[in-house]
Amino acid sequence: MADGRSDAVPGSPEWWSLLEARARAAVPSAVLRYVEEGARDEVTLSEATAAWREARLLPRVLRDVREVRLTRELLGCAASFPLGIAPMTLQKAAHPRGEVAMAEAAAAEGVPIVLSSNAGSSFADVGATGATWWLQLYMSPDREVAAALVDEAAHHGARAVVLTVDTPVVGTRFPTPGEQHVWDVAHPSWVGANLPREGRDPDPARRHKAMDLAAGDLTTLKSRSGLPVIVKGVLRGDDALAAVGAGAAGVWVSNHGGRQLDQAQATARCVARVREAVGEQATVLVDGGVRSGLHALVALALGADAVLVGRPVFLALAADGPEGVRRLLRLLRDELEEAMRLAGCADLDDVRGLVDDGR
Ligand SMILES: Cc1cc2nc3c(=O)[nH]c(=O)nc-3n(C[C@H](O)[C@H](O)[C@H](O)COP(=O)(O)O)c2cc1C
Repeated sequence: MADGRSDAVPGSPEWWSLLEARARAAVPSAVLRYVEEGARDEVTLSEATAAWREARLLPRVLRDVREVRLTRELLGCAASFPLGIAPMTLQKAAHPRGEVAMAEAAAAEGVPIVLSSNAGSSFADVGATGATWWLQLYMSPDREVAAALVDEAAHHGARAVVLTVDTPVVGTRFPTPGEQHVWDVAHPSWVGANLPREGRDPDPARRHKAMDLAAGDLTTLKSRSGLPVIVKGVLRGDDALAAVGAGAAGVWVSNHGGRQLDQAQATARCVARVREAVGEQATVLVDGGVRSGLHALVALALGADAVLVGRPVFLALAADGPEGVRRLLRLLRDELEEAMRLAGCADLDDVRGLVDDGR
């Protein structure tokens, strides 16, 4: 089973349980807990996937679906299908080559990877994989620290900057009684490879983040980097519009995988209003609980340009290395293709309006 094969049908509940079991065997339990946890009572976490499943579709019929076209340009980068890898710290806890192994898988399958500013692998090493990669940034109170990070990332080929705006402080998570804390087991080399020495405290809660982020930060980031800026962690239409007005190329509908403000709305219930607010001029990305190509279809139908996936690829990296990530990406792609055929859509542009909104 080490190669990730079993009789379970890929994508079935049994297949997912086996993937999780293999990941559990491969990483310390405190790491797995950290990956899977959400803030406080985990209300938002528990609703994420359920909200994608709530959508009901009105498939089109009498359409030619012999050929389904899934490629899409995202922020000037070609993607083989509209999906990317969300930024996550601690990938070196999943695999000795961490983000580099993840980036190799992304490159091989033709999807972008978003690198956490707290990654354990250097920008140079990730850039050398040839992957399309975007930098995720937590703004530091001292704007110059963040600016230096962005300069370095751009130098090593980052194609966009993703500013995370939902984390003025790290949301409280309740530890499992009697279990070690992740930052007690984490090796210092797992995180902070690109941060200045004084910013390398492994525990993100102890690294200060700007609590006074404003539209001006977007404008500055854009002009300094010369790269498209995406604002990650937007759930409201008015905020989305303000971000785009300040120069953002797009917004990323996210509640940080339910790890920040508990009881924040499910992203599946926010995508449509965000798309409506920004119109067609901006890129709209979404993450949170996307676990199948069908969920991706729902997200695209509601107005997203692409979905991002977090925990599943982390588990796949831990369980089966970069080959496991590649298998999972191919599975999600194949599921999306099947869902599009069944919904009568040969092109990504055909999927808008598939969700029944009662009209
Ligand atoms: C282990 C872990 C680490 C994360 N680290 C970051 C991070 O460094 N920066 C960030 O913007 N989001 C981070 N996130 C949030 C993800 O980018 C993403 O928003 C979320 O996990 C998506 O939901 P999903 O895991 O249900 O797919 C992290 C999430 C997890 C699970």
